[in-house]
Amino acid sequence: MSTITAAITAVGGYVPDFVLTNKLLETMVDTNDEWITSRTGIKERRILKDDNLGTSYLCIKAAEDLIAKGNVNPLEIDMVIVASTTPDMPVAATAVYVATQIGATNAFAYDLQAACSGFLYAMSTADAYIKSGKYKKVLIIGADKMSSIIDYTDRATCIIFGDGGGAALLEPNYEGLGIQDEFLRSDGVGRDFLKIDAGGSLLPASADTVAKRQHYVFQDGKTVYKYAVTGMADVSEKILQRNNLTKDDVDWLVAHQANKRIIDATASRIGLEEDKVLVNIHKYGNTTSGTLPLLLFDFEKKFKKGDNLIFAAFGGGFTWGAIYLKWAY
Ligand code: COA
Repeated sequence: MSTITAAITAVGGYVPDFVLTNKLLETMVDTNDEWITSRTGIKERRILKDDNLGTSYLCIKAAEDLIAKGNVNPLEIDMVIVASTTPDMPVAATAVYVATQIGATNAFAYDLQAACSGFLYAMSTADAYIKSGKYKKVLIIGADKMSSIIDYTDRATCIIFGDGGGAALLEPNYEGLGIQDEFLRSDGVGRDFLKIDAGGSLLPASADTVAKRQHYVFQDGKTVYKYAVTGMADVSEKILQRNNLTKDDVDWLVAHQANKRIIDATASRIGLEEDKVLVNIHKYGNTTSGTLPLLLFDFEKKFKKGDNLIFAAFGGGFTWGAIYLKWAY
């Protein structure tokens, strides 16, 4: 019997129509296009404007795109994982609602929260379920409505984040394609530097926490930057080394889009040429759990069967890691 690996067999994505440009941000906070572009590489981001729609809307749109393009029968999906930091509600998992809405009525579903590494961790979960032979079709979705937790009076955070999401279907592969290796890490030291203070069990939401704006994202950008640069580069180098890959063996770097300078530092550490580094941060900003699948969504047509993709991410918590995958179609 040949070994089972977990391969991506279809992808989908969705970003809302409204474009929040750097120019528009200049009218909202004390910032400018030159500062944002040179520090982050971001030119614009998408915002889900409708107050009645949450992250589930982004997930459903991305999954529907995947189902249509991949000609997938939703009734055959075994499980649905939604990686998100901005679930629709604290209780009643977003994934459960999404699975029902897309017609995946034979699936079980749950949410996974690992900040910007959420999609990477979801890939790992899907890989384990498929390799074990337990399930055959696992739909993973990474999406965030970051605008719901961003303080648009705080110039240090509001320039970075955007809304959007993407989806990938993982299935068994018997040709050795798909996920080859993973190196995932986490470190609780991170929770002081990137967090939302209120709204959880430690500090439940109250009039006081709202008045103090503690329901918004707080980020110590400089510290997070330092950890992210080192963390993402380290794991990328590690996964190449332990799979005996040189830079010439890597076809694409699929790196979390938090800051163009962090992506460049990762690419530089593994000696990768610019044309192998996938970038769409200028269009979407940091969509948290959405960045990796949105790269797959935007660049799917470039990939060839057998291509070596290195995924890398770093996020709040801290959480980070890298995955080595061979493209299957
Ligand atoms: N526009 C203009 N000036 C700004 C600004 C903005 N939007 N935000 C901050 N500044 C100012 C600061 O007040 C500071 O001014 P000062 O020197 O007079 O005090 C100066 O610019 C430098 O600020 P600093 O925070 O040191 O900038 P930076 O080079 O570290 O860049 C980030 C800020 C947020 C872009 C950067 O730290 C970063 O990308 N961090 C990691 C983000 C990340 O990866 N987050 C998600 C993890 S997944």
